[in-house]
Amino acid sequence: MKLRVFETEKEAGRYIADVFESALKLRPDPLFGLATGSTVRELYDCFAKDCETGAADFSSARTVNLDEYLGLSADHPQSFSYFMRHNLFLRTNFKKENLYLYDGGGDPVTETARIKAFLDENTIDVMILGVGTNGHIGFNEPDSAFESSPHSVDLAMETIKANSRFFNDESEVPKRAFTIGMRDIVKTKKVILAAFGEGKAKAVKRLFADDRADPQLPCSILNLIPASEVVVDRALAQAAGLE
Ligand code: GLP
Repeated sequence: MKLRVFETEKEAGRYIADVFESALKLRPDPLFGLATGSTVRELYDCFAKDCETGAADFSSARTVNLDEYLGLSADHPQSFSYFMRHNLFLRTNFKKENLYLYDGGGDPVTETARIKAFLDENTIDVMILGVGTNGHIGFNEPDSAFESSPHSVDLAMETIKANSRFFNDESEVPKRAFTIGMRDIVKTKKVILAAFGEGKAKAVKRLFADDRADPQLPCSILNLIPASEVVVDRALAQAAGLE
């Protein structure tokens, strides 16, 4: 697990975009594992810019999203499908038929089986992960089984509180969600976890405090993935005492 510190979030986003785009040069149809949230905004801005200038062509790339709120359909502004559409897919030339996203309004059993079948057949080439303040990745909350495949989960109270900033109030935050499993993350060829700002310093500090994978800190599973990187900005690195 390699730590990379960038002066700003913007520089970090550029670096991560370059890693994804280099996968396009190795094969025409790489599978990208994609996240939602404030952490990926710079990355998706880079993708949009590169598509517009012709520096990148995503028309054959395939994507699978990490997670989704259970109960929010794709037209709900707080659904992750909506986020992906507006922050990435409508701004680039990814093709609809190449995108795998949970349907948050769909049947949990059917949706889980559909994403699981896809990931059983396909290995993710490059994945971007954000991290929750409690160390969750995707929606794999503390104490998640390391051998899990796509499934639905009860969200931790800390996650509900943290994500309430996107809703009118805490009671509107869905209590359950879909997520790809820890096993799907470990099988990925290249994993980049990004975290910016002092608010994530505690989780990242815990991550670098130990080189074991601890189920109480889901992001520590990166210790089991040789080609994994943690990309942070200087503000976080200093707050976490990493430099
Ligand atoms: C959310 C999502 C994750 C996301 C993380 C960080 O709860 N489940 O997929 O990566 O928390 O979000 P943000 O980037 O907004 O801090």
